[in-house]
Amino acid sequence: MSHNKTSISIVLIGAGNRGRGIFGQYALDFPHRAKFVAVVEPDADRRASFSAAHAIPEDRQFSSVAEFFAKHPGKIADGLIIATQENVRAEAIELALEAGYAVLCEKPLGLNALDVIAVTDTAKKHEGLFMVCHQMRYAPLYRTLKRLVVSGEYGKVVNIEHSENLDFEHMAHSYVRGYFNNDALTPMILAKSCHDMDLLLYLTAAKPLRISSFGSLSHFRSENAPAGAPKYCLDGCPAAATCPYDVQRAYFRPNTDPAYLRQMGIIKDRLHLMELLKTSRFGRCVYHCDNNVVDHQVCSIEFEGGVTASFTMTGHNAIERRRTRIQLTDGEIELDSFKKTIEIRKFSTGDFEVLTPPLGGTHSGGDVAIMQNFVETILSGNQRQVLTSVAESLDSHLLAFAAERSRKTNQCLEISDFEAGVRQLQQND
Ligand SMILES: NC(=O)c1ccc[n+]([C@@H]2O[C@H](COP(=O)([O-])OP(=O)(O)OC[C@H]3O[C@@H](n4cnc5c(N)ncnc54)[C@H](O)[C@@H]3O)[C@@H](O)[C@H]2O)c1
Repeated sequence: MSHNKTSISIVLIGAGNRGRGIFGQYALDFPHRAKFVAVVEPDADRRASFSAAHAIPEDRQFSSVAEFFAKHPGKIADGLIIATQENVRAEAIELALEAGYAVLCEKPLGLNALDVIAVTDTAKKHEGLFMVCHQMRYAPLYRTLKRLVVSGEYGKVVNIEHSENLDFEHMAHSYVRGYFNNDALTPMILAKSCHDMDLLLYLTAAKPLRISSFGSLSHFRSENAPAGAPKYCLDGCPAAATCPYDVQRAYFRPNTDPAYLRQMGIIKDRLHLMELLKTSRFGRCVYHCDNNVVDHQVCSIEFEGGVTASFTMTGHNAIERRRTRIQLTDGEIELDSFKKTIEIRKFSTGDFEVLTPPLGGTHSGGDVAIMQNFVETILSGNQRQVLTSVAESLDSHLLAFAAERSRKTNQCLEISDFEAGVRQLQQND
């Protein structure tokens, strides 16, 4: 890469919520660093809207991955970002790596352990850059936490208590009404918490050995529906005034999460949204959906060196946040992503300190930070600055899949046995 070059060109595959709102927005906010030069998106409205925002000419707009690579088998940009849903990943990853693109791919990498192993094996064969969007590692809050852990100042890590607390609206939007509500796509522990598995790997820097997990879908079931609740909130639900999940509360507030609306497509105005919610999957009563993923799950994990970790994921919280408490041999460190604080207590000195690393932006600033890293790595050619290696991405996915197997089979699983079993299936295929 030329030393004078200060910005990169990118192809986007999938101009939905993440493609448009996170990666696309980065290029609009930092036009001197990145420019999208082609888009692949089957939905005509989304494709047109993204192309207009990024001034992408008509001959660089495509409705399928096959069409794009048939026309451009070789590289037409520095980087390529894959922001489709997880059921359409493998083809794009393989073709993009073969063409020589630096690739940033949304997580999770596939629907099952077999697919993820195949994808990561493919990525390992290529020398080019392949980053998985585990952006929490890049967030200043977690980078600070990692710095404290590796400093040695507080001794060695003994145990980690980590939790992912989704607020009740996020749970309802994404995992009850939304696209990630059914394990025919992916189990919740993968869809939501492969970030958390990844953070545990980041913080322990150790191989995971075993995992056991419990959890279920307790609340969002038809038997819990208020009397007379229709299939859609806007069909005159008698409980609308008191139901926390009523769509008029969820989607018409000035502070409604814009990601929720982006997932519904291109919303023109309030009237359009109201019409849409009469028939859209996002307008459904939360007790009458086709959801089967859990609303609470816990995991216990043992890592190499005897480090242990517990992880709790629940969808019944007033406040959305991650909490991480690390017990070390000479201290205790506690992170709260809502309070934006890291509290540190050192046993030997009695010192107590509260750090407030800068935040800002979605995913505690991780979304912008991972894009900056992608751009910098392409420009410098120095892959050592990448925090998310393919091998660790595989481990985090395997942890999530093994957790789900454990939950379903009531067994404690050895991760290496689990991986070997999946690789055996691959060979028998
Ligand atoms: N890293 C994170 O924190 C984070 C957060 C949310 C979602 N995600 C992941 O990001 C991915 C995208 O999620 P989203 O919320 O943006 O979903 P989305 O449905 O809003 O966007 C996906 C887009 O891909 C398009 N698409 C479908 N098939 C395609 C194909 N063959 N080629 C090109 N485009 C195609 C869809 O039309 C849609 O516009 C999911 O895998 C999700 O799990 C990651």
